[in-house]
Amino acid sequence: MAIVSPVEKEFSRRLEQVPVHGVGLSVDVYSPHLTSLLGALHQRHAPPAYLEVFRAAPAVLAAVRRQVRGSLLAYHGEGLWLTQPDTPDDPSFAQEVREVAGHLQTLDSAWLNHECATKYIAGYSYGTYLPPLYTESSAMVVAENAMLIQDVLDRHCRLANGAAPLLLLELPPLTYFVAGTLGIPTFFRLVVQRASCGLVLDVGHLWTVFRYSGAWRTTRLEKFVDDFISQFPMDRIVEIHVAGLAIHESSVAARFQPVDRREGDVPPAWTDAHAAPIQPVLFEMLERVLSHPRLTGLRGLALEVDTKSIPLIVDEFAEFSKRYGSALPHMQKESEVSQEGGYQPLPRAPLSETIKHALAAAYERYALVAAGRSEPEGPEWNLPTTCVDELETYRSIYLPYEILSWGGQVDTMFPQSCRRLEEQGVPLSRFVSFWFQRPRARSGPYDFFLVKIDRFVEFVLEEAPELAAMAEQEADELRRAYDFANEPPIQAVGERT
Ligand SMILES: [Fe+2]
Repeated sequence: MAIVSPVEKEFSRRLEQVPVHGVGLSVDVYSPHLTSLLGALHQRHAPPAYLEVFRAAPAVLAAVRRQVRGSLLAYHGEGLWLTQPDTPDDPSFAQEVREVAGHLQTLDSAWLNHECATKYIAGYSYGTYLPPLYTESSAMVVAENAMLIQDVLDRHCRLANGAAPLLLLELPPLTYFVAGTLGIPTFFRLVVQRASCGLVLDVGHLWTVFRYSGAWRTTRLEKFVDDFISQFPMDRIVEIHVAGLAIHESSVAARFQPVDRREGDVPPAWTDAHAAPIQPVLFEMLERVLSHPRLTGLRGLALEVDTKSIPLIVDEFAEFSKRYGSALPHMQKESEVSQEGGYQPLPRAPLSETIKHALAAAYERYALVAAGRSEPEGPEWNLPTTCVDELETYRSIYLPYEILSWGGQVDTMFPQSCRRLEEQGVPLSRFVSFWFQRPRARSGPYDFFLVKIDRFVEFVLEEAPELAAMAEQEADELRRAYDFANEPPIQAVGERT
């Protein structure tokens, strides 16, 4: 008889309290307009069985809860950078997790889904996710941080059924490169050996692993998927996401077409793109995943559709729910919810400071490599699992676009300062190198737009101190407008007065 570890037993107990959610949508509450989206789905007779909502202001989450009274809601968190060894040392971390616990309570969400990825490494900020270093010590840190988060949820959130929400870690996308010493499935096996969390398998993200781990050079997609899932802890998967893929707008803007000189049959250079149509190849991959015998804990299957147009969502979801509406029949239908509540924390040996320091140093190298300030050297960059073939696309096209355009076009945000800088012969491209010139400590919850504002004011102060007052004034206006936009009086979800 197989021996079940205490961590496995704890996961099973927690999973028992997560009801089957069915086929749903993972959405952003601001875009597209949620009330209109739900109306259009009902008109098509394709209501989602649940909504997983992305992080939003507490008042907005409360409005969503009121609007879909009685329906299942789940939560997609953001900003808990659990891949990083120094995250728990950040004084604001515990407070941020408690805030998330409040969000989960408001929604009565059975889980907290969070990417196993970060946007903040060693003092450097990014707009989109960077995957963890796939190493053994990194897996240990992820597991430890995951359990710290779970402990806070256990203590600060009690759902209507008496349970605490379950932390789920999502397989993150690769954006042109990957670094590490372990295969990704092995990494997640190490994480779940130590942490009683669940997992989210995003099929689009899995496609990017095929593409940017270089697996496509030696393996057909079908075999890659079968190999991956045969090694991945499938019994920990609680939710599956399916989302769009597309050539990134930075490559489109640069008219960049990646060409691989060694191979004739290069897969498209797609990256994760929630606004884009879902590529048919993802359904072929999904079917291989759904038919896997170790997929025993699945509770939800969602299209991830934030920022997509409503007609496209409705078309895709109507088809999706028809095709996969019965995909969860072998899963537990009625959850037997224990009213006992509360968990005794599992005894865990704390990670040694030596391991954390070594990992912190590896992440500093990672940040500098990603920013183009160092070459990919060192143990995490020298193994067959590492793939840096298109690292240059990330460094020279994707990342500058992220700093200058993504989530706020700098020359639109600071029109006067940018015009004056141009007159003085200071190109905006210099802002990109300034951004990664030195690490900066975080202050408060992570918000890339606000980081961009702060960083630009510093940039102007360094490049043209006489323009600092102008930049500061533009920054103040941006911050005020942003505060106003984030805390509007809510009439109905998505409607702002
Ligand atoms: Fe996802």
